[in-house]
Amino acid sequence: MDNISHLNVTREKEIVLSKGISQQSIDVIKASASCITSNDVQISSRMYEILFEKYPKMQMLFANSPKNQHMKLANAISSYAVNIEKIHVLFPALEVIAISHVREDVKPAHYPLIGRAFIEAIEDVLGDDASMELLDAWREVYKYIADILIEMEEKLYLKQKEREK
Ligand code: HEM
Repeated sequence: MDNISHLNVTREKEIVLSKGISQQSIDVIKASASCITSNDVQISSRMYEILFEKYPKMQMLFANSPKNQHMKLANAISSYAVNIEKIHVLFPALEVIAISHVREDVKPAHYPLIGRAFIEAIEDVLGDDASMELLDAWREVYKYIADILIEMEEKLYLKQKEREK
């Protein structure tokens, strides 16, 4: 896969995108950031457990994944919690994720499955600390990030297709 600098979104668009999450959710995420970062590994491990229990076939997608895959996801979750007000700084990291996803053939239809498992995992790990407000805020952030990744991946798949012509 060649460099995807062509995917770099213009600064102007980044700024607009960074405002794509509601202020209410930003406030809730900020207030719960330390709770999420201190539980990120448990949340991501639980997420994979739930995902594979519900959709055993999804394990095939992760067949080539490194052993520390859940740590990578945990880091990503914490980065979103900490950078919630300036999420555009994460764009280069999101581009790296998009490249991995395209290599493994991740498709838009997979996102809601991971999303539901992710929210359920937060609920399981945080227990009583997982308020409705917090879960709604994370649902919004997940959707926001998923949409950015889906858009990046769509461009990469197109580029791949053009090369194969
Ligand atoms: C917002 C949603 C998602 C986030 C934040 C996320 C995050 C990540 C991260 C951080 C990596 C490691 C990238 C690297 O360092 O190479 C990764 C890789 C991967 N993700 Fe996702 N992911 C998301 C959605 C999905 C979905 C929907 C699927 C489909 C089931 C998926 C499947 C994979 C696979 C198969 C890999 C490759 C593992 C590897 O070889 O490293 N991810 N993702």
